[in-house]
Amino acid sequence: MSDGGLSTEDTAILVEKLRTLRTKILSDQVTIENQKKEIIDKNNALARIHKDLQNVRKDLLSTGGALTETEFRSAARKYLNGIREEVDYLRQHRCARTLIKEPLRVVITGAAGQVGYALVPLLASGQVLGFDQPLIITLLEIPAAVKSLNGVAMEIEDGAYPLVEAVIPTTEPSVAFKNVDYAILVGGFPRGVGMERKDMLAKNGPIFQSMGDALQKYAKETCKVLVVANPANTNCLVCSRHAIKIPRRNFAALTRLDQNRATALLARKLGTPTRKVANVIIWGNHSNTQVPDVSNAVVTVDGVQKSAEVEEKWVSGEFIPSVQQRGKAVLEARGSSSAVSAANAIKDALRDWHFGTPEGEHVALAVYSDGSYYGVAKDIFFSFPVTCKNGTYTVVSDLKIGESVRNLIKKSEQELLEERHEAGLDK
Ligand SMILES: NC(=O)c1ccc[n+]([C@@H]2O[C@H](COP(=O)([O-])OP(=O)(O)OC[C@H]3O[C@@H](n4cnc5c(N)ncnc54)[C@H](O)[C@@H]3O)[C@@H](O)[C@H]2O)c1
Repeated sequence: MSDGGLSTEDTAILVEKLRTLRTKILSDQVTIENQKKEIIDKNNALARIHKDLQNVRKDLLSTGGALTETEFRSAARKYLNGIREEVDYLRQHRCARTLIKEPLRVVITGAAGQVGYALVPLLASGQVLGFDQPLIITLLEIPAAVKSLNGVAMEIEDGAYPLVEAVIPTTEPSVAFKNVDYAILVGGFPRGVGMERKDMLAKNGPIFQSMGDALQKYAKETCKVLVVANPANTNCLVCSRHAIKIPRRNFAALTRLDQNRATALLARKLGTPTRKVANVIIWGNHSNTQVPDVSNAVVTVDGVQKSAEVEEKWVSGEFIPSVQQRGKAVLEARGSSSAVSAANAIKDALRDWHFGTPEGEHVALAVYSDGSYYGVAKDIFFSFPVTCKNGTYTVVSDLKIGESVRNLIKKSEQELLEERHEAGLDK
């Protein structure tokens, strides 16, 4: 049969295409959730489709399935037109946004290492700085890792990531740090068997001095620096001391992996998905003295947010030691240290720093302590609860914390003061 040139076969093909389009739109919807405020307009577009679809569905159902062929085709056409319009809208919208945005320059150091390798696809695909944000990615390595680094760069090229305008593997800090907006410092001297903290500080100190010097010389003054390589907090201090043109507020060390581990553990304990748990934080150093804290954690049950109630015995006997030792447990199980989860935590930390934290939520970030928060000494990088907005963070300064947490915070602070001393950074 035909109606305006549309046969039954065509209709079937049409409906199949509609399904494919709908699947695509649904996957766009997932993207939309990730981009939060930035893409509320896309969300609205999808809501319109949804409404159109509901209307069409209502039309179809109201006939009790007794549609004439013409009616069915007319409804199918309406459905298809609605979807086409919205897909065009989304496509144009996304292209337009991508075209008007200047590329951000991002350097990853130690990019041939396992964390760097796991991080690259998250960055290149837009999950860190936005799905409409063009990027120029520079990858820094030491000469011994150049062959492998070139392989990483080849894989980024072969990914044909639409957002990546250029990928530049290099061993030259002058190239790697040139005008960068973000520096993700993953490269460092690894902990060898029998190495103590002192040895780690001695090996990594010079590396982070030269990273700081390179930032000072070549990076933008507005550059944000996330230090991942261990000992992360003190490496961050060393680096910031050598890049004085960049405000201290633009430096942070990663404690998000610890936070994510703690959140996941609490969620398992409560028998709920991690997305329903928030405000678990980490205080102090990214080391075994870190203080995972659930005192202010919340969980959403039946759409209502309430405080996460867990027994003190579980917190001190199981939760805190498990989070503190989780890195070791992964190392023992995998034979290599955490990489995918570390890269994911870098993504989460930078995304929140760049786009902001959700309303009512705070996250852990090791930031410069100026001595005004929770009695923590000044001039160390210390993991605090922070909220982020418009590309800057604010330390949440009024959380209630009990005596046991306070005592643990003191121990972690003490360790950081010792590290600062051992690194020769006492003023
Ligand atoms: N903060 C965290 O939560 C967290 C989590 C995981 C790993 N880490 C730390 O991140 C670092 C990287 O871990 P990984 O598993 O990828 O290690 P890895 O050994 O696989 O990779 C490190 C890379 O850094 C490179 N490198 C060394 N010195 C460099 C320099 N001066 N400039 C540029 N590159 C340099 C090495 O060649 C190597 O490719 C380690 O220090 C690790 O302890 C921190």
